[in-house]
Amino acid sequence: TKRISVPEIIAKKAVRQPVVCLTCYHAHTARLLDSHVDLMLVGDSLGMVIHGMENTLGVTLEMMILHGQAVMRGAKKALVVVDMPFGSYEESPQVAFRNAARVISETGAQAVKLEGGERMAETVHYLSQRGIPVMGHIGLTPQRIQIFGGFKTQGRTEAEWPAIEADAKAIAEAGAFSMVLEGMAEPLAAKITGQVPVPTIGIGASAECDGQILVMEDMLGLNPKPPKFVRTYANMGEDIEAAVKAYAADVRARTFPGVENVYQMKKKTG
Ligand code: KIV
Ligand code: NA
Repeated sequence: TKRISVPEIIAKKAVRQPVVCLTCYHAHTARLLDSHVDLMLVGDSLGMVIHGMENTLGVTLEMMILHGQAVMRGAKKALVVVDMPFGSYEESPQVAFRNAARVISETGAQAVKLEGGERMAETVHYLSQRGIPVMGHIGLTPQRIQIFGGFKTQGRTEAEWPAIEADAKAIAEAGAFSMVLEGMAEPLAAKITGQVPVPTIGIGASAECDGQILVMEDMLGLNPKPPKFVRTYANMGEDIEAAVKAYAADVRARTFPGVENVYQMKKKTG
């Protein structure tokens, strides 16, 4: 199977084909997702979702590379994008390139994602000109949580619109092959989607976007308090608890392992 390419993702916009994306952090889930999604994002949300951090600011380049490698071992068809973590790209286009090049060469992923609009446009341009496709990320950008003072939906008053529209335009012109619109009022997401030539990928940004992404664990029901923008498609939290409870009861009752799980001696021959 041939892997989906960056130009194939871009081309979906003109033919109005939704771009289906999910986050992914592990080899086994990558294998399960692979034939159903167009794009997997190894998001820095992994710091919160699987390492229990309070926000994404403590995620390191090494963590992103390790999980990027795991996902690449399970994904054969979907395009894989790896998030650039806080501190690995903001300083200069040169530092960003050095770190993004490590992500690409050590994981084999096809692209990186970085947060920021106008202020990151020069970096988006620098990387894409040098062979690293960049997915943008604007609106609610979690690496700036301390500036926002929390996870706050963007663009709910028209006064906020011009700056966010300028962000979208700047990274599109800089060569971003797509952009995540996160935590954004629907009419603004619709307007930006109409203004940029590359696919917009929404999370908490309405069905007006060209594609959608969710954190996989959220849509599987592993987050006990999912945000409003999540639809849960499974109740894996409950399923796991029920399974663990049943296992614990079996071990305590000595009904596990059963005969079917046990090795006996080899039969003597001759
Ligand atoms: O880290 C992440 O999971 C993300 C998506 C929510 C877009 O950046
Ligand atoms: Na992220």
